[in-house]
Amino acid sequence: MTMTKIIAISGKGGTGKTALVAMFIKYLSIVDGRDILAVDADPDTNLPAALGMKVGKTIGDMKEYMEEKKAEITGDKMLHFEAKVLESLVEGDKYDLLVMGRSEGPGCYCYVNNLLRSTMSNIVENYNTVVIDTGAGLEHFSRQIIKDVDAVLVVTDQSKNGLMTAKRIKEITDELKLGVKEIYIVANKVSKENIEIMRRYASDIKIEMIGEIPFDDNIARIDLSGGKILDVPDSSPAYIEAKKIAKKVGI
Ligand SMILES: Nc1ncnc2c1ncn2[C@@H]1O[C@H](COP(=O)(O)OP(=O)(O)O)[C@@H](O)[C@H]1O
Ligand SMILES: [Mg+2]
Repeated sequence: MTMTKIIAISGKGGTGKTALVAMFIKYLSIVDGRDILAVDADPDTNLPAALGMKVGKTIGDMKEYMEEKKAEITGDKMLHFEAKVLESLVEGDKYDLLVMGRSEGPGCYCYVNNLLRSTMSNIVENYNTVVIDTGAGLEHFSRQIIKDVDAVLVVTDQSKNGLMTAKRIKEITDELKLGVKEIYIVANKVSKENIEIMRRYASDIKIEMIGEIPFDDNIARIDLSGGKILDVPDSSPAYIEAKKIAKKVGI
């Protein structure tokens, strides 16, 4: 059995979580023979576009289906659900993609969430590296749908709010004992002028700043022209820094 390395990217909206995940996937894809899973756990679901992938049904859809049909399904419900979840897996040449989709409505969904918990562990086990694009919330972690996370990277822009989010996420992971091994800050879209202030703040809240990604016109251009972040040139300053971060977290 391979040991799976699980990295989750979190942070305030618009800080560059999805861009960083896409750059990680680009970097991981250049090494052959590695099994990579990208997970979009942000209800906004922007990762497929950043990777240039099309998505049909999401895990959220499969949960709805299971919740509705559970009484009718004969035989092993666990296997049935696992097959449904695998149906939603988008398989690429170099990596696969799972999209969690929208959150459920009111109600417990305890039954399906229990099924999903074991299904996710079974799926994740098949990969060497799992990179998760989370929203600012940690819903899938607090429900233990995704567990044993090796590192959470909180992306922040040059804003106090972005840094406060890092502090809050650290408090939540400590409080809920989520078993997250490491937590780091990644500064993104930062200028040389302000980085010193951000370093000081990170040190005040006792979270290591593991990377400092500059504002990169290549990314802005791709975004403006409707391209995919996965196509960022190898020579892009943001991509070069993203690679360094990937190496530091051991993926
Ligand atoms: N290093 C960067 N340089 C320039 N633009 C960036 C950079 N990182 C992200 N962006 C842009 O910032 C915006 C928000 O990024 P995105 O990854 O969608 O954020 P999030 O997923 O955290 O909401 C997008 O328009 C993206 O293209
Ligand atoms: Mg995003």
